[in-house]
Amino acid sequence: MSADYQLHGDVAVITLNNPPVNGLGYATRVGITNGLERANADPAVKAIVITGAGKAFSGGADIREFGTPKALQEPNLLSVILAIEHSAKPVVAAVHSVAMGGGLELALGCHYRVAAPGAQIALPEVKLGLLPGAGGTQRLPRVLGVETALNMIVKGDPVSSEVLASLPGQKLFDQMAASAESLLQEALAFAAQAAARQAAGEALPLVRQLPCKHPQGDAYFQFARNMVKGMAKNFPAPAKCVDAVQAATKNKFDAGMAFERAIFVELMNTPESAALRHLFLAERAASKIPDVGDDVKPRAIQKVAVIGAGTMGGGISMNFLNAGIPVTILETKQEALDRGLATIRKNYEAQVKKGKLKQDKYEQRMALLTPTLSYDDLRDADLVIEAVFEEMGVKEQVFKKLDEVVKPGAILASNTSTLDVDKIAAFTKRPQDVVGMHFFSPANVMKLLEVVRGAKTAKDVLATVMQIAKKIRKTAVVSGVCDGFIGNRMIEQYSRQAGFLLEEGATPQQVDKAVEKFGFAMGPFRMGDLAGNDIGWAIRKRRYVEKPDMKYSKTADLLCELGRYGQKTGAGWYDYQPGKRDAIPSKLVEDMIAKHRQEQGITPRKISDEEIVQRLVYALVNEGARILEDGIASKASDIDMVYLTGYGFPIWRGGPMKYAEQVGLFNVVESMKRFARNPLDDARFWQPAPLLSKLVAEGRNFS
Ligand code: 3HC
Ligand code: NAI
Repeated sequence: MSADYQLHGDVAVITLNNPPVNGLGYATRVGITNGLERANADPAVKAIVITGAGKAFSGGADIREFGTPKALQEPNLLSVILAIEHSAKPVVAAVHSVAMGGGLELALGCHYRVAAPGAQIALPEVKLGLLPGAGGTQRLPRVLGVETALNMIVKGDPVSSEVLASLPGQKLFDQMAASAESLLQEALAFAAQAAARQAAGEALPLVRQLPCKHPQGDAYFQFARNMVKGMAKNFPAPAKCVDAVQAATKNKFDAGMAFERAIFVELMNTPESAALRHLFLAERAASKIPDVGDDVKPRAIQKVAVIGAGTMGGGISMNFLNAGIPVTILETKQEALDRGLATIRKNYEAQVKKGKLKQDKYEQRMALLTPTLSYDDLRDADLVIEAVFEEMGVKEQVFKKLDEVVKPGAILASNTSTLDVDKIAAFTKRPQDVVGMHFFSPANVMKLLEVVRGAKTAKDVLATVMQIAKKIRKTAVVSGVCDGFIGNRMIEQYSRQAGFLLEEGATPQQVDKAVEKFGFAMGPFRMGDLAGNDIGWAIRKRRYVEKPDMKYSKTADLLCELGRYGQKTGAGWYDYQPGKRDAIPSKLVEDMIAKHRQEQGITPRKISDEEIVQRLVYALVNEGARILEDGIASKASDIDMVYLTGYGFPIWRGGPMKYAEQVGLFNVVESMKRFARNPLDDARFWQPAPLLSKLVAEGRNFS
């Protein structure tokens, strides 16, 4: 049973005990109701305290149980809270560390609440595409007032217990404990007093009995609804939170509860909630590497060095400076070093100007940065990240030098986006210490970090990089060594499809619009213009030699031959006005494509937006499945994390692999077979990956 029962004099203490965060799973719920029964049946017990073991009071409903029969099995959370309210003896919640979601709702069902300072209090269900489903929308407004409660419910962000306790008129906490250490003692004393007051005839208070009103009534809720709709766009939950809180102000308590419950169930079945719950679990799963257990101790990282102060080197350095870790940055020429430093300064100063960074913080960060032209200054670095030109010869020079000078045990990482990490590792006598750390541009902004595991990369090196990634607030996903790693290997197939679509009859703007309507931050052609079409051109030129039988549309090459590299040359797939970023459809490009079609003997056809989206997204799915088969990614959810955090895939669709599951793998495979019959497409590519076919045959999903 995941709740302990102990007597402290005449007070019974029920301690939730379901690591890691005392999620309110079935066994915990049973533990609580059993404890309540036992305490109420024991004449020696006068009052009850509910608290949590370890690092949380409770993180809420057990997310791992969602979608399983156990989630619904009685006693469900509503029944547990009802049992608390019905307890004949006073029940005091002793809240510490984390009281979130169902955990806070449980506390709100108790007669009294005593809190430790520093506890994070939240109803974060909205971040899972839900609303609080065990009375949170009905009880929180009654103790904090409608506006404070609605803000917390709609945003889902934690607020500290002392901030809430200081709000005028709040009824959330009856008492603040002096510290987390003294919480239990203080809660026990409070419970004993409550029992004495009850014996003297005082009734047990219930949050449900408190009034719930807003002075402006419906006008306030209409205002709130408009605000929320503007912010929430593709997510239905936030607006529903407003409806539920409004219901608390208009209905009797039980009717409000029924209203909340109905919406909770409705939201639970939305694809948006499924995607967000997937994201929550996928993000945490990504940090776990199947063969690197908790017993693998990470190395200590106190000093970092970055080689190359260009676009990536500067951004990479900023991540560490932001986390308070000193960085030494090395260049070959003073001029390049100065330029790199000036860019870092400029980026920080822009943040200061916008009020996002305080001047003194900016100065503290810059003080942690040491520029150098000498490898001697890297001797004591614990982690070195190379971000020099993407040429094997240059990488060889750098890694040989690092091998000579850097202390034993230091981690040597490369930010290469296309080169073979195993080859780079072989330039050193310590390949076990070499790893890829593939940041995305702008490196100080983008969340994704692909951690490239070489054939010889040591386990503790991986554990260290995963740990440091968390420190610099990146989402790290492990990839094996292959051309393009996870993200770029897949995007190449997506780009190829975009090219075929142009040949067959689509315009760049039609493709971009369709994909952006699906939810991508940017379509492939606008993206190409932003990143520079010459990058893809260089990769294709290599491919034409390495893989002569691979089929490509020539349209992108023709564009580059015209010098239309994108925004940086003032023209790409679109036209641009000087100093502006608005993509203007280009007649010249349209004519260029039309001429190319004519030369190829292609009669253009009308292509639906649906076909565009399917071909681009399913190209990601098919290559993703091959990446899984090849063992480059260890799980499908890692691929989703790469696309959600690095490639602007719509969050509410959960990533390409999750999306494919939602469409149904059978349907996805059927579409692939259809695409394979299109003579202008690449029939070989559209052979469904064997893993996909196998899953369909077995009626299974990636997960
Ligand atoms: N249920 C089950 N497991 C949970 C959980 C939950 N509610 N919340 C967190 N966990 C697990 C994580 O999956 C992770 O597991 P792992 O170690 O196996 O990967 C572990 O706890 C630690 O999580 P974090 O890495 O996030 O640890 P932090 O210390 O950084 O944060 C936290 C702890 C603040 C509790 C954070 O995990 C969090 O925000 N959790 C989500 C809480 C939440 O959304 N609760 C609402 C649930 S829905 C609900 O209650 C419905 C109700 O209204 C009916
Ligand atoms: P960049 O050209 O902006 O910067 C490279 C810097 O390295 C220059 O400042 C150059 O002076 C310096 N340099 C060259 N040789 C050196 C040496 N021997 N020692 C020290 N410094 C040296 O290039 P960018 O874009 O920053 O790319 C760097 C690396 O990051 C490449 O491997 C690239 O593939 C990778 N990458 C680039 C991304 C991007 O979007 N630009 C994204 C992800 C990875």
